[in-house]
Amino acid sequence: MISRPLTVTVGCLLAFVLFARFAFFPTATSPDAQGVPAELNPWTFVPAQHAKLHSLSPSQCTASFPGLYDRILATAGQRTVENGLITYDEVRIASGRCMLQVLVYEGELYITDLGDPLECYVSNGRERIVATLSLIQRAIASSPQPVPNIEFPLSYDDLPTRSTPGVTWGYTRKETEDNVWLMPDYGYWSWWAIGIPSFNSMSRSISAVDASTPWRKKIPRAVWRGTPHYAPALREKLIETTKDKPWADVKTVTIGQDERHFLSLNDHCRYQYVLQTEGTSYSGRFKFLQLCNSVTVSHKLEYAEFATHLMNPSGPKQNFIQVQRDWSDLEEKMQYFERRPKEAEAIAARSRELFADRYLTPAAVSCYLRQMIEAWAKLQGFEPQLCDINKTTGAKTMRGVPFEAFIVSFPQEKPGEYGRFAPG
Ligand SMILES: *[C@@H]1O[C@H](CO)[C@@H](O)[C@H](O)[C@H]1NC(C)=O
Repeated sequence: MISRPLTVTVGCLLAFVLFARFAFFPTATSPDAQGVPAELNPWTFVPAQHAKLHSLSPSQCTASFPGLYDRILATAGQRTVENGLITYDEVRIASGRCMLQVLVYEGELYITDLGDPLECYVSNGRERIVATLSLIQRAIASSPQPVPNIEFPLSYDDLPTRSTPGVTWGYTRKETEDNVWLMPDYGYWSWWAIGIPSFNSMSRSISAVDASTPWRKKIPRAVWRGTPHYAPALREKLIETTKDKPWADVKTVTIGQDERHFLSLNDHCRYQYVLQTEGTSYSGRFKFLQLCNSVTVSHKLEYAEFATHLMNPSGPKQNFIQVQRDWSDLEEKMQYFERRPKEAEAIAARSRELFADRYLTPAAVSCYLRQMIEAWAKLQGFEPQLCDINKTTGAKTMRGVPFEAFIVSFPQEKPGEYGRFAPG
């Protein structure tokens, strides 16, 4: 049933009245819009109190997470210069490309096109869809001020540019892929497919490891587990480079095939150094490694995530160790820090403070998503519609399925009932 348009004449009329109100007073309830100077409205982000607080105001968000939006603003700026406003045609999605078409209307979330998830080629599509929409829903529902109406395409693919050459929200991008608007991935909600119940539960168990194991007491080696199956050039080279090295604990684990050396994510945090490798594109586990009070060691990244621009490989604010993609300088850098444990310990502490206690918190994720919505709205060259109107009969039909209905009914029991929710 849900795949058919729903007739909601009354809802659509009422919607118009409410919209007209918001259109006249778009930021009437925003403390920021009233021009209260920041110094009269002091705000300090205290992780223990605010990490899971989703309702920060725009000015509290900016004060808490300086620089977090740099990449959104750059992406939007680039777009303005090169292609002008976003048209509705650009928002429509092709079927079977691991994409959704999503509408935010009067602070509510709708799926206007589900694509065809059964034709999507990622393994945990359902999880990605539900988790990603839930992140957006949470950010909208907790907003302390009205959220603008937007409609946008979203790719839940590991490679958003494989889904579409056009503009889209996505989890990762190469530096040059200007069409991808970076958003936090589904792991910030749950990655149950690999046994992570929720972001917060993972964060809590990692904190417990760190509370019981000061950095100096951790295993003084660099740890990595994984399959060389993804990005073999990168990963096989790592395995080769670290073979029999006393400073490394690198072993192959292929889930379902060879799990002898399996190590849980929290157990990674028992090491002083954690190695990060890209896979098909970005690595979904990276953010969890960044939650550890350990030194992240990463090759130069090809794929960005929403907060990777805050990583700093050198100087007084260094928060990770960066090595070449062929790992040729890994041993030299490990030996350098082996001789300077104080320096390494400080890098771990800075990383934990910056990422675990600030920029990767649920509060930051919600601030970030609301900023994305604002930035998108400013570039939108069309007015999103909740209803289609039949030109002959005048009957109004709701274009999308509300998140509320979607979350209780997806997936449909019969696979045949997947498919597009409503005519685009
Ligand atoms: C409009 O309504 C008529 C009568 O119910 C229907 O036959 C027609 O297909 C509708 N048009 C569209 C575009 O849905």
